[in-house]
Amino acid sequence: MKFEDFWYVVALSTELKPNKVLSCTVLGEWLAIFRGDDGKSVALRDRCMHRNSRLSRGKVCQGNLQCPYHGWVYDKNGKVVAVPAEGDNFKMLDSRQAKLYQTKEQDGYVYVRLTDQPSEEFEPFKMPYYGEPGWETVRVINRFHNNVTNCAENFIDIPHTASVHPGVFRTPRKQKLEMTVERRDGSVLVNYRNETTNLGWYKHFLNPKGDEIKHTDSFYMPNITSVEYNMGKHRRFFITSQSIPETENSTLVYTDVTFNYGILNKIARPFVHWTAQHIINQDVEILGIQQEVIEKYGTHFSNTPADTIHVFVESIRNKIEAGEDPRKLENKSVQVTFCV
Ligand code: FES
Ligand SMILES: [Fe+2]
Repeated sequence: MKFEDFWYVVALSTELKPNKVLSCTVLGEWLAIFRGDDGKSVALRDRCMHRNSRLSRGKVCQGNLQCPYHGWVYDKNGKVVAVPAEGDNFKMLDSRQAKLYQTKEQDGYVYVRLTDQPSEEFEPFKMPYYGEPGWETVRVINRFHNNVTNCAENFIDIPHTASVHPGVFRTPRKQKLEMTVERRDGSVLVNYRNETTNLGWYKHFLNPKGDEIKHTDSFYMPNITSVEYNMGKHRRFFITSQSIPETENSTLVYTDVTFNYGILNKIARPFVHWTAQHIINQDVEILGIQQEVIEKYGTHFSNTPADTIHVFVESIRNKIEAGEDPRKLENKSVQVTFCV
């Protein structure tokens, strides 16, 4: 198994308009993304075959992408279909084809896969309740100066919330929390107990009546994290993040905040958006600081039981890094008590 076997978000469906080309980086590969004449998304290596200009700096005309330098034109299969310098004498050659990657669209996201020969057919992660009646999704995009592993760990790490997000999300109270952390089939599943309304002013939205909170966090290989607060049938709240590896130390994170708060849904949108962005800005800053130190001194972590989630996430990602299948790691379930 390799990281290239999986599908990665490269754009929002809505931002990939006809006649528009976007540039992005996934696992170090530069991509030019546009829509072909049939409206389907196309991903080409962002490099013109002719004299190696960037195709993403060019323009799209009727579903074909034209290089900005000498105007070579590429179709949705990456084939060169026109060369201005050859005029009417132009002949198509099979060898003149840019590297083409497979794409998919699902839940309002455009996905790319970098290999044609995956170890098995994975599907993009299904975003919970996206576009379903009664549900609202607020979507934010942020770049973190850090790697996917450290980002994913941060998104399902409770101990940092009291110090990085004081007042917004949690306030330090030295309250005991229990969690069961399970590693199973390439996933980490965390169940919290004893969680009450220690959620800062977030509780007014999340849990106005102070009902029992069911809180679960999950990590799904290779790059998805999910936080779910469940306060009953019509009070569910998901934060789902897809961490896209751009390079070794740059991660583009697409975050969906999804909720079903009845008549509050529309009213809540701007509030949810502001709060999500506010919290993520604080995480971008702290993860940037972590990365500075890692670049200077390398990664040497020291763990307590509260870091069990991190250890499991790392074990899964390290397996894929080594070309192995993390689902073969032994299943483990650990009970942990920690303070927050
Ligand atoms: S470099 Fe692209 S057309 Fe010449
Ligand atoms: Fe955070």
